[in-house]
Amino acid sequence: MRTVVIAGGTRGIGGALAARLRQAGDQVLALGSEDADLTSVRQTTELISRLPDRIDALVLAAGRFDQRRVVTAEGLEQTFAIGVLSRYLLTEGLRPALAKAASTPVVLNLSGTGGIRAGRIHWDDLQLRHGYTMFKATMQGARANDLLGVAFAARESRIRYVLYNPLLVNSGMHRQLRQPLRTLVGAAAATFGTTVDNAAEPLAGLLADPPDAPLTALRRGKPVSLDRSEFDPGTAERLEAVLTDLAARV
Ligand SMILES: NC(=O)c1ccc[n+]([C@@H]2O[C@H](COP(=O)([O-])OP(=O)(O)OC[C@H]3O[C@@H](n4cnc5c(N)ncnc54)[C@H](OP(=O)(O)O)[C@@H]3O)[C@@H](O)[C@H]2O)c1
Repeated sequence: MRTVVIAGGTRGIGGALAARLRQAGDQVLALGSEDADLTSVRQTTELISRLPDRIDALVLAAGRFDQRRVVTAEGLEQTFAIGVLSRYLLTEGLRPALAKAASTPVVLNLSGTGGIRAGRIHWDDLQLRHGYTMFKATMQGARANDLLGVAFAARESRIRYVLYNPLLVNSGMHRQLRQPLRTLVGAAAATFGTTVDNAAEPLAGLLADPPDAPLTALRRGKPVSLDRSEFDPGTAERLEAVLTDLAARV
């Protein structure tokens, strides 16, 4: 029986994955905002200390979009706090627990990887104080998650890291949006998106049989070349240094 931690496992894609893994006999810790507010560095750190000291897989599926710039109690922009910083903290904090796994341990990061060049890291304004848009925040998160994978895999370890973009999924994530965008995105997801169960199926497969490579990027199962500029190791190192510093200062 494997122990799988799913941050963002209470609904949507993470919820469907949790149900599928439980059915297969895994022990699943499906975490949502009632377990810890992952926009908070303090709560994320406390959560890590409450989790088992040996786990087989960590799934990063928590996310929240907002059309307005929301600032957390710790002074961080919410999309960045939950979508980038908490993912970095969870992965680093659970590295020792993953290293003790009996099977091949794996981090599965659901993000916007997939060779989409849109968006960039706003090094001079990571918290997007100027000119915030939901798209800018989301795409910065996508670029940052590509780099989190690169930085993690740069350190020798038996832990596999998989970046996975499920593309459009009818998960209900549009409920966070204001009208009329909520209706428009909801209709697009219902028409063109895949179901959460269909999205979860290949994810369960990746956890059961992780790739051999330290880092893999997939767009709905299709490999994305790590030679692309989005996966630059030097930029990944730079981001890691910024995040370490930020977490220490919060
Ligand atoms: N849906 C898509 O089309 C799509 C496409 C590409 C990538 N993705 C990525 O896939 C991931 C999952 O997306 P989804 O559509 O399944 O999302 P979702 O249905 O909105 O589920 C989001 C999950 O995140 C948790 N969460 C939200 N805010 C939180 C907070 N402050 N602290 C702790 N947990 C929090 C929620 O828990 P509670 O409900 O308990 O708050 C829930 O379990 C996201 O990273 C998303 O960016 C999704």
